[in-house]
Amino acid sequence: MSSKPSHRAPAVTRVRRTLAFRLTAAYSLAGLLFVLLSTASLYIVLRTELDKSTEQFLADKLHVLRTILQERPNDRDALREEIELETAARRYQQFYIRLLDDHGVPILTTPGMAEQLDVAELIRRTRNHSETSVSMTGVHGRAFRVASATAWAGTSPPRGDTIQIAIDISQEEALLRRYRLWFWAILLASSVLFPLLGYRIARHGIRPVEEIAATARRITSTNLRERIGAEGYPSELASLAGTFNEMLDRIEQSFERISRFSADIAHDLRTPVHNIRGEAEVALARARNVDEYREVIESTLEEAVRLSELIGDLLFLARAESPLTELRRERVNVGTLLNAVRDYYEASASDGGISLVADEGAESVTAELDRALMLRAVSNLVSNAIAHTPNGGKVTLAARAEGTAIRIEVSDTGAGIPAEALPRVFDRFFRVDPSRSATSGGTGLGLAIVQSITTLHGGHAEITSQFGHGACVTLRIPVLATS
Ligand SMILES: Nc1ncnc2c1ncn2[C@@H]1O[C@H](COP(=O)(O)OP(=O)(O)OP(=O)(O)O)[C@@H](O)[C@H]1O
Ligand SMILES: [Mg+2]
Repeated sequence: MSSKPSHRAPAVTRVRRTLAFRLTAAYSLAGLLFVLLSTASLYIVLRTELDKSTEQFLADKLHVLRTILQERPNDRDALREEIELETAARRYQQFYIRLLDDHGVPILTTPGMAEQLDVAELIRRTRNHSETSVSMTGVHGRAFRVASATAWAGTSPPRGDTIQIAIDISQEEALLRRYRLWFWAILLASSVLFPLLGYRIARHGIRPVEEIAATARRITSTNLRERIGAEGYPSELASLAGTFNEMLDRIEQSFERISRFSADIAHDLRTPVHNIRGEAEVALARARNVDEYREVIESTLEEAVRLSELIGDLLFLARAESPLTELRRERVNVGTLLNAVRDYYEASASDGGISLVADEGAESVTAELDRALMLRAVSNLVSNAIAHTPNGGKVTLAARAEGTAIRIEVSDTGAGIPAEALPRVFDRFFRVDPSRSATSGGTGLGLAIVQSITTLHGGHAEITSQFGHGACVTLRIPVLATS
């Protein structure tokens, strides 16, 4: 017994670890994926926006220069101001412009351009990309976007000048580089943090399950009282704990019933055996005549009959509960069956001044039943009714078809059953008044047998009673579908 729990413990631990591991892995992957997607998309947006603003800047500059060349082709001052002075005034995002006439001779150049850019390289790189900017590295390693475009000077005939423009984008590049660095740092930190955090969350979530398992492991037949306290559990696990507790309630009740049942059996077997022994001892205490011996033997036989009936009832109940028990069903006219029971009890009913009647309507009711068992069930009910109905009372047997079921009713006008005892009358060995029943020979198994027989037929038994005004037991049995 003691080796069992330790035997099972490793299996439980293994399952828990796997679950915690799986949850942690799922949380971490989801978290990392989220960080990866969000930072990467932010990076792409930033890069696109920077490129767009550079492109717009270049387009603006080209437009201004083209306008000047178009409208005032000989206004060198305006051009110089645009090309030499404005660019020189900038501190950030330095840009350089070179204006060439239609023979390729430079007209104006931003001062210092040749120091930053290899002009020959610029010409070569922008040759095939009219107006679209391309990347280029400067003489000192700085990053540039460069473009070249034709501008028509408003001379007559029009002169096709060339504008070469370059903008320093080193700062944007540095910004993007820093961003990439942060990106990797965040990813690295996340890949450490998420599993740690995920593991804590998973462990926290699994703890109630562990507690439920620990309680389940602690429970044995001797401490069935233990229950899981589900305070603070999430609703799913609280309902699991609730279901588990309900199961324990049922097991505890069954255990109690079984131990009460064993105690009752022992008690009910002991009484007749005790009587037999006592009578035998008294009889043997001195010499007796034949009549005295006969009396003792008769009384012993009576006790023996009681004993064998009790054992027979117990055996019947045990067999009825076996899943292997099969009914010997046959088509039974319920009216005929009720009449047979009435005929059997007629004499004892009239002895007690009770009128015993079987309702005639029952004769039209037929069903597939185990005749012998059903006879036994109805007999038990009639025997109860007669036993608890006083002189001048009435016991009625009735049956009727009701949809897909039949109802068999045995009602009386007798003493009835107190309301508090009603829920227990189908329990084994239960007697409303044990002292009275003990003398009259009742063992309290009659209604338990009725219930077993009804359950075997797939139906259920009910009792209604008003204390002092009789009782009525109803057996509701479904009719088998005939194919
Ligand atoms: N028709 C009834 N009227 C009043 N009380 C009843 C009636 N039927 C059953 N009871 C009560 O229910 C108890 C249980 O009935 P049950 O038939 O199971 O046992 P019993 O009649 O005492 O013994 P057994 O039937 O085993 O000889 C009875 O002891 C009796 O107190
Ligand atoms: Mg009875």
